[in-house]
This record gives sequence, C-alpha cells and structure tokens, in this order.
Amino acid sequence: MTERGRFVTFEGIDGAGKSSHIEWFADLLRKQGRKVSVTREPGGTELAEAIREWLLNRPMSMRTEALLAFAARQDHLERVIRPALDSGVWVICDRFTDSTVAYQGGGRGIPLTDIETLERWVHPDLQPDRSFLFDLDPVIAAERRRAARAADRFEAEQQAFFVRVRDAYLARAAGSGSRFRVIDSAKSIDDIRKILELDISSS
Ligand code: TYD
Repeated sequence: MTERGRFVTFEGIDGAGKSSHIEWFADLLRKQGRKVSVTREPGGTELAEAIREWLLNRPMSMRTEALLAFAARQDHLERVIRPALDSGVWVICDRFTDSTVAYQGGGRGIPLTDIETLERWVHPDLQPDRSFLFDLDPVIAAERRRAARAADRFEAEQQAFFVRVRDAYLARAAGSGSRFRVIDSAKSIDDIRKILELDISSS
C-alpha cells in the first residue's frame, strides 16, 4: 500500500514573507526523494483560481468572502489535495483554512464558531500535518508590502486589520496542539530555512 503523503501549509499576514520559502522548501523535500506538489489557496484548480480573482478584487460582504473561500477549498480538496495525498505525494499549500480563521474571522469579524461549522462540513477528517506560521509585526509587514506590487483588497487593508489577523493566527496556533510551528519572520532568510529544514527532518 502507498504511504499517504503529508500535508504542509504556509500561513501568515501579507508581507510576512512565507512565499519566498515555499519553492525552496519543496525542493528540499524533492532532494530527500519525496514526491511533492506545490499549490495555493484560494486557488489550485481552474474553478478555485477563478474564485480567487473575485475574492481578491471584487467588493463583497464578509460572509460571501468566507463562503467563497470554502467553495474554492472544496474544489481544491476534491480535485487536487486529497488525490495527491492518497497517492503518496506531499502537498505544500500556500494558505489553507487557518487563513479563513485569521482573515474572515479575526480580520473581518465572522464568529469563529461559524467558520468552524464550514470547516467541519468541508474537511471534517483532514487537517494539515504541519503548519508553518510566519509571524511578523504588522508595521514591518506593511513596509515590506509597500515595496511590492499593486495591492489587492486584503493587502490594501489598514494596519488594525492585520493586527487582528495576526492575533487570530496566534490564537489558532495556540489552540491547535502541536500542528503549528510559529516562525519569527524578522529572522534572516538563512535562519528561517535552517528552522524549516530542522523541523522537517526531525518529524
Ligand atoms: P496570498 O496568498 O498572500 O497571495 P499573494 O502573495 O499573491 O498576494 O494572497 C491571498 C489573499 O487572500 C491574502 O491576502 C489572504 C486572503 N485569504 C483570505 O482572506 N481568506 C482565505 O481563506 C484565504 C485562503 C486567503
């Protein structure tokens, strides 16, 4: 029987720097002989990428945001994530449900119990095996974002929004047993890569 792949997610506020480590991390795993698939949320399928365009760019209520995030996730899980894990492929996903908890829950103010209801509906039996939370002071993250390209609906939010998103992430991490590794994103790229490498070789 094929050994199931592992599900690893990267999380953090916009500007925390997670994206610069994902491909490096996937290559590290490949060098260790694993089959790896890199994907992202919202997105990862044709339908979910179309939903991403709406979510990031069109005005909508916070409930619509949460429902669209989970609609995209359902499609992504059915077509990409579950089949890959079942066939022994490691799935590295840029954001997953912790982003909905942090952004729509913490940031927008949707009650966590409502998000948990959607979570139980869409993936009652599946959680990431490891979630790396790139944690950074929202003031520093805002400076990093300013240096980047044009902002989408979330990136254009005020600092107070990102303070709430960060707090929601940290609360989720604290309440999720050993699933999370919280990484201080103010560290150098080399130091962060050492942490990622050590974590994955020791688990
Ligand atoms: P991100 O993945 O950081 O991509 P990029 O680096 O190209 O901007 O951006 C996706 C945005 O979507 C991010 O601001 C967080 C937001 N988001 C939610 O609000 N809820 C969700 O459930 C997910 C997955 C993302």
